[in-house]
Amino acid sequence: MDFDIQNLIRPHLKNLTPYASARSEFTGSARVWLDANENAYGTPGSDTAQSYHRYPDPYQKKLKVRIGELKGLSTDQIFLGNGSDEAIDLLIRIFCQPGIDNVVTLPPTFGMYEVAASVNDVAVHSAPLLPDYQLDRDAVASAIDSHTKIIFFCSPNNPTGNLLNPDEIRFFLDSFQGIVVVDEAYIDFSDQPSFIAELKSHPNLVVLHTFSKAWGMASLRLGAAFASTEIINLLNRVKLPYNISTLNQEVALNILLNKDQYQVSINQIIQQREWLANSLNSLEVVHKVHHSDANFLLVKFEDAPDLYQFLVKLGVIVRNRSTVRLCEGGLRITVGTESENQALVKAIHQFENQHLKKSRIA
Ligand SMILES: Cc1ncc(COP(=O)(O)O)c(C=O)c1O
Repeated sequence: MDFDIQNLIRPHLKNLTPYASARSEFTGSARVWLDANENAYGTPGSDTAQSYHRYPDPYQKKLKVRIGELKGLSTDQIFLGNGSDEAIDLLIRIFCQPGIDNVVTLPPTFGMYEVAASVNDVAVHSAPLLPDYQLDRDAVASAIDSHTKIIFFCSPNNPTGNLLNPDEIRFFLDSFQGIVVVDEAYIDFSDQPSFIAELKSHPNLVVLHTFSKAWGMASLRLGAAFASTEIINLLNRVKLPYNISTLNQEVALNILLNKDQYQVSINQIIQQREWLANSLNSLEVVHKVHHSDANFLLVKFEDAPDLYQFLVKLGVIVRNRSTVRLCEGGLRITVGTESENQALVKAIHQFENQHLKKSRIA
């Protein structure tokens, strides 16, 4: 494949001089820091050991070393953002000319691709998934035109929960001249290897991971893009200088040392996913529990909107996807703790009893 990143970048970014933060201009060792207009007296009310008066490391070097160890990558193949949402937005801003270029998405899928494109005045070409939620090669091929810069594949896909066929993704990695994003936010819950292994052979690949799901850091806001150093350099040039706070960098680094506990919680979630799927399958109001490689289930119900409202009244909140094409009648249910899952099944049981009573009367 003939891939030339220079043909893809928005022209005005080719010669962009990025903001040079005080700290990134300096190399060597320092004794006195008077370069960044910080408050040298510290953070009011904090002791020196826990002070936030210095700007964070703009390139999160220590955190990237740990993430590199976990993912088998060098630090220059890693971009870290305020959630992987930040990487989605930056990729669109780097490669797509507003009002001219477009991206391809495969609905039903994660909504941020479309939102980020629309915010940037970038058109979205849809290539709907097939009824079995697999990607439709012909639909993707016909959604691509000469102004398509990015294809977003989400695998495992949100909200359907399934992995996309990797060979179908590879087909576009090999044949599409633009950027292929494989969003693997939920890959930790599947038994399929990550596309990270394919970065070496595919300069147009960007793999997105998030620490909001399996790593349990949703409130910290930390996501990653893995790609060639060329693409990572572009992301670093366009991002805001201090996009991850010192506090978040430190806390995330500590959390990422707990690999054993991370694995234990994944095993628990997978086990609960099976329990929940089996329990739901035994209910009459359940039409279908879709196979999931993620930490949620897409479940089709007899009367999803009513059930959704019933659950809300009981304080049990799931995601109503019943009006989304191909998800009709569907609620997306995150796998919770054992007791949360039991509470959910009990509540649906209650709904079922009322529902059946009503239909008997009618
Ligand atoms: C498929 C997918 N990608 C990305 C994200 C965003 O993750 P983050 O919390 O890192 O922004 C989500 C969040 O739900 C998601 O479902």
